[in-house]
Amino acid sequence: MSHNGSGTENGAGGAVDLSDRSLTNEQILTEGLRRDDIEIVHYESAYPVPGTKAERRMERIVALMFLVSGAAAVAFVGIYIWGPFKPEYTFGADAYDLYTPLLGATLGLSLLAIGMGVLTYGKKLLPHEIAIQDRHDGGSTEEDRTIAVGTLGFIGNELGVQRRPLIKATLGLGGLGLGLAAAAVPIGMLIKSPHPSDNNPADPYFETGFNKDRFNDGKPVRLVREDYSPIKPEDVSVGGQMTAFPGVPGGTTNEFADSPVLLIHLRDEDAAALRSNLWRYSKNAMTVAGDPNSGAMWNSFVAYSKICTHAGCPASLYEQQTNRLLCPCHQSQFLITDNAKPVFGPATRRLPMLPITVDDEGYLVAERDFGVAVGPAFWERPTQ
Ligand code: FES
Repeated sequence: MSHNGSGTENGAGGAVDLSDRSLTNEQILTEGLRRDDIEIVHYESAYPVPGTKAERRMERIVALMFLVSGAAAVAFVGIYIWGPFKPEYTFGADAYDLYTPLLGATLGLSLLAIGMGVLTYGKKLLPHEIAIQDRHDGGSTEEDRTIAVGTLGFIGNELGVQRRPLIKATLGLGGLGLGLAAAAVPIGMLIKSPHPSDNNPADPYFETGFNKDRFNDGKPVRLVREDYSPIKPEDVSVGGQMTAFPGVPGGTTNEFADSPVLLIHLRDEDAAALRSNLWRYSKNAMTVAGDPNSGAMWNSFVAYSKICTHAGCPASLYEQQTNRLLCPCHQSQFLITDNAKPVFGPATRRLPMLPITVDDEGYLVAERDFGVAVGPAFWERPTQ
C-alpha cells in the first residue's frame, strides 16, 4: 500500500464515504490518516517478498520462544500442584528446598520467553513505519470511531498472524500455558490443604514451637536464646527486652519461624497497668475467645508474639519510655501496657501473648501455646 496523508479537515466528512460497506480496511485507514493529518514519512516491510527463507527462519525463532513460554508455564503448574510441597520448612533437608526456586524459575522463564517472542515479532516481522501527526482538541465523531475500528482491523491484518499459522499456534499455546499458570494459584488452593492430615499432623496456622504436647512430650517449653541457652528472669533487666525462641529441637530455625516472642521485663508500674488492663478486657470479653491472656504474665514479665498481626513482619522495635512496640515494615505500633493494642498503623489486632511462668530450675517456660493463631489474618482464622 501507499501511505500518504495530507489532511484537509478533522472528522467532518471527506472524499471517501465511510458508510460504503465495500471499503477495505486499508482504504478506511488511508482516509483516517488523511483526516487526522497523519503523515507516514517512512514505511518499509520487514520482508517485502513474503515467504522468504529469512522470514521463515525468523518465524521459527519467534515460535520457539512462544513454545518455550508455554512449556515453562505448564512446568510451573505441574510443580505447583505436584511439587514436594509441605508446610514445615527445613532448609537443606530435602527436595522441598527446590520447590520455590523452581516455581520462580519456570514462571520467570515463561514470562521472559513470551515477552521476547512478542518483542522479536514486533521488531523483526512487522513493517517499520514512522508517522507524524498534529494533535487536535475535542472528542471523536462517529466517523472517527469508524476509522478507529477500521484502523485496528487493518493493524490486525498487518500483524500477519493469520498467514503465519506456526506463530498463531505457538502464541496460542504460550498464552494457554500462561493462563494455566495464572489460574494455578487460586485453583491450587482448592487442591492442597495446609491443615492437618494423616500425612501431616502439624497445623502450622494454629500452633507454634511452644506447643508442649506436640514438641516437648507434654512438658512446658523453655524460652531460649538463639544459641538455645535457656533464659532466667534475672537475665533481662527492668525495662529491657529479649527475643526468645521455643526450646525444642530446631526451635530457632525457619521450621518455627512464627514462634519467636519478645520477652519484656516491664517496670513495676507498667506491669500493674498491663495487669489491670488484662483484667478489664477479660471482664468486657474484649479479648480473644477463652481469654488466653489472663494469667499469662509472670510477675513483671510478659512475652508477646513478634509476628506482626498486619502482614507478618517481626515487630521488635521496643520503645521503653512509651511502652510501644513498633513494626518497621509499615510502622504499626502496639501499646504493651494496653495488652499490645494496635495504636498506630495498619495493624488491627493485638499481638498474641504467650502464657509464661518459671519452672523448678528457675527458667522461664511457656505454660502452653498461644491462645490464638499468631501473625496476620488468613481465611480460616476465627474472628476475634
Ligand atoms: Fe507490621 Fe505491616 S507487617 S505493620
